[in-house]
Amino acid sequence: MSTERFDSPHPRFSRRRFLVLAGGAAGATALIRPVRALAAVPSSGFGLVQTQATPKAIIAGPAVIDLAGRRARTWAYNGAVPGPLVRVKAGEPVRVKLTNMLEDTTTVHWHGIALPNAMDGVPDVTQPPVAKGSSFDYEFIAPDPGTYFFHPHMGMQLDQGLYAPLIVDDPSEPGGYDEEWIIVLDDWTDGVGRSPDKILARLQRGMGMGSGNTSGGEDMNMDMGSMDHGNMAAGSMMSDALGGMAGDVAYPLYLINGRPPKDPETFTATPGQRVRLRIINAGSDTAFRFAIAGHRLTVTHADGFPVLPIDTDAVLLGMGERIDAIVTCRSGASPVIARAEGKGGSARAVLRGGTGKVRRWEAPELEKQLLTVADLSPTDAAILAPREPDRVHRLELGGNDMTYKWTINGSAYDPAVVYPSSLGERVRLVLQNTSTMWHPMHLHGHTFAVVNGGAPGARKDTVIVTPGQTMTVDFDASNPGKWMLHCHNTYHLEAGMMTTVQVA
Ligand code: C2O
Ligand code: CU
Repeated sequence: MSTERFDSPHPRFSRRRFLVLAGGAAGATALIRPVRALAAVPSSGFGLVQTQATPKAIIAGPAVIDLAGRRARTWAYNGAVPGPLVRVKAGEPVRVKLTNMLEDTTTVHWHGIALPNAMDGVPDVTQPPVAKGSSFDYEFIAPDPGTYFFHPHMGMQLDQGLYAPLIVDDPSEPGGYDEEWIIVLDDWTDGVGRSPDKILARLQRGMGMGSGNTSGGEDMNMDMGSMDHGNMAAGSMMSDALGGMAGDVAYPLYLINGRPPKDPETFTATPGQRVRLRIINAGSDTAFRFAIAGHRLTVTHADGFPVLPIDTDAVLLGMGERIDAIVTCRSGASPVIARAEGKGGSARAVLRGGTGKVRRWEAPELEKQLLTVADLSPTDAAILAPREPDRVHRLELGGNDMTYKWTINGSAYDPAVVYPSSLGERVRLVLQNTSTMWHPMHLHGHTFAVVNGGAPGARKDTVIVTPGQTMTVDFDASNPGKWMLHCHNTYHLEAGMMTTVQVA
């Protein structure tokens, strides 16, 4: 596969940039990774699926991935974790043929995209689940530029290896950066510790936390002390930033671009160059606190939509959230650390300007200024014009770790429960968290505005609601269909924290 056939998504982007984007260190050979079911493939780099005239093939199937020399049997798109990068220009069609080779039904959900309902990938709601051995053609226009990702909307599949970045380029990108680095964060247990299905079953039986790492610990990912993953006590994973319990699952590994801390991806730039980071939290039960040692971040986008650029030392991403930030590369090798918030492990990569080695895997920036959603303001283009809501839905987020039932207004997911709205209405969702756990709440098919006192809040599709907090978001019901509103913690979602908002 040569790069020649790929048009640049943006005139400013050189072919060399594509090599950087697509393959990282692996380069051009990684553009489209051959599918080798149950064959070990290096987990680094992205295959690139440029979706233009003809549909591109994405195969969900069993795979063995290489985690720093250790083989993990899992499920993946096109044999790699993350799966192939899908990249289009805003307004252009995404065309993907999904083929299911899994021992389960599946779908693909295009997280954050305002697409036609029939393409949204929610089984039994927007499409029939795709059976083993069959295919489904996804085709839609991606209207808004930004950083997105895609994943199944089925069981615990997202907590296996089934996820990949989706980048929608802005044809009138103002630029202001020289290089670009896509950074996909994930919490990993499949094929290394207990399977996500087993963890969920244990949580539902009240058997507590932990992925039950079976390795004896040499691949353990702990920065501090020696926690026993199999017996992590309830309440031991705490985070002030998340208002209490940080999560339900202690993972054996945390990954950046499919690579564990022992085998970090290195991104090379020239000192002084501005690098646009597109950070995606594809995890299932982990918020990541992200920083680069010796660097400040200028946050430019939240969940794909532009914000007034704001400087910070660190950012926090809940599951399903994305942040774009610009960093000016310094000389030497700087640790890039995505700390599993409240959990003690971290994912790592290296930002390299010139020569040198990482001497200490530390980033003091993690303890400094941490940006939250309240600090973000939309650019003029992204402001949702002020307007009184035509309709208000109050949603109480409830549940607990004991029964492991997670609910919205007292009920676990029930397809018959639908929160109505009419096309053209301004809809307000009041998300009141009465549980003792934080929830990254995600709405399909729309981008809401966080209601931030009087000032216009950032446009987002996923927002963290901490225990006791009430988070209010507004959106224009502009996209007809039945749209899921749910917690993006895969375990909470599977245990019921999902409902439907209808735009009729
Ligand atoms: Cu990324 Cu319904 O989710
Ligand atoms: Cu939740």
